[in-house]
Amino acid sequence: MYPLSVVLSLLVAACVAERKFPPGFKFGAATAAYQVEGAWNVSDKSPSIWDTFTHDNPDFIVDKSNGDMACDSYHLWETDIAVAKDLGLHFYRFSISWPRLLPNGHSNYVSEDGKRYYNNLINGLIANGIEPVVTLYHWDLPQKLQDLGKVGLTNQQLWCEPKNSDEEENAELIRNVFALFAYPIYSKTGGWPPSVEKRIAETSEKEGYSRSRLPTFTQEEIEFIKGTYDFYGLNYYTSRTVETAQPGEKLSWPVSGSWEFGLALSTDPSWKAGHAWLISYPPGIRRQLHWLKEKFGDIEFQILENGYATSEPVMYDQGRVNYYRDHLEQVLLAINEDKVNVTAYTAWSLIDNYEWSSGYTSRFGLVNIDFNDPNRKRTPRASAHYYAAVINSHSLDLPHH
Ligand SMILES: *[C@@H]1O[C@H](CO)[C@@H](O)[C@H](O)[C@H]1NC(C)=O
Ligand SMILES: *[C@@H]1O[C@H](CO)[C@@H](O)[C@H](O)[C@H]1NC(C)=O
Repeated sequence: MYPLSVVLSLLVAACVAERKFPPGFKFGAATAAYQVEGAWNVSDKSPSIWDTFTHDNPDFIVDKSNGDMACDSYHLWETDIAVAKDLGLHFYRFSISWPRLLPNGHSNYVSEDGKRYYNNLINGLIANGIEPVVTLYHWDLPQKLQDLGKVGLTNQQLWCEPKNSDEEENAELIRNVFALFAYPIYSKTGGWPPSVEKRIAETSEKEGYSRSRLPTFTQEEIEFIKGTYDFYGLNYYTSRTVETAQPGEKLSWPVSGSWEFGLALSTDPSWKAGHAWLISYPPGIRRQLHWLKEKFGDIEFQILENGYATSEPVMYDQGRVNYYRDHLEQVLLAINEDKVNVTAYTAWSLIDNYEWSSGYTSRFGLVNIDFNDPNRKRTPRASAHYYAAVINSHSLDLPHH
């Protein structure tokens, strides 16, 4: 028999080992062009659909704002790189504004200023040891992009749990609905998820359509699309419970459910409330990853978005720290217990930004932006320090958290 202290230190060692991320696991953070760049009318940039939408319909935006200036990242890209470097990010994921790069919308004319902006950003990141990650791929993106490597589809998913044990089949159906566009690419059989395809064909017939509203693939198309990936990109924020809808219940997809499938979505009262739709349910990310592995096999997964919003620009953002800690814990369980090959984790977002119809009222940043300051001052929040500590120790075991 071992002395208790030996057992204890072995236990501690085992725990520490489990809370370490695998060697080579990468941490990053993300933003998207319209949400941060601003400079909507500089040089030869043409308006995007969001420029037009926000200018013509300010009432559709909670605070009647727009992305005209946003975080001014078009001018402050060097500050953004410095912020990313201070966090110790392995990669920075951003998107390309097409009307900035290709003002005509076609590749016959490439904006010199647009090209220069993205080249500067990419070169600046590389010079600071940060890998640029762009999820779009196009033959005439800035030359550098050609060399960045892997291709994957980003899938925005809500994990779904049955409201009660009778609803398991319905929960499974809705999971497949969320995986609708992933299925043709990642499933071994290719094509649409059979349960979804069958159901839409049935409802289409009932509605008097001569064929399904979900167009069927030819065998040739199935073979062509199947397997065209290097990794699976998962965006996960929150989960929902699934139950059969009441007759006549008003359902809007995906907020409250699906009329197509007669299923209502809600949240469990035991889940932690967050900002608006963003209820924190950390086990959801692990279950989602496990489910995807069961469906699509032992492929590479990259978490391309995960993050937490607040309505106020709090600097000591304990809620966000808890959210990141609890979700990363579940990612580790997925890796260690479920043997899911997750190779990267991306926090949304590096900096507060323009959150579409929520305007500037929904704060997702690890780093605060003062939107009243013409210089859009960047200030790291508690969560930025937490995330930097996780990245630095490559582990969730931190001395002071
Ligand atoms: C660009 O848009 C801003 C408003 O965001 C406006 O004040 C400015 O005059 C515009 N500049 C040009 C060159 O049109
Ligand atoms: C995970 O995927 C990466 C990229 O495909 C591969 O290099 C690595 O060996 C895989 N790891 C495991 C544990 O399967």
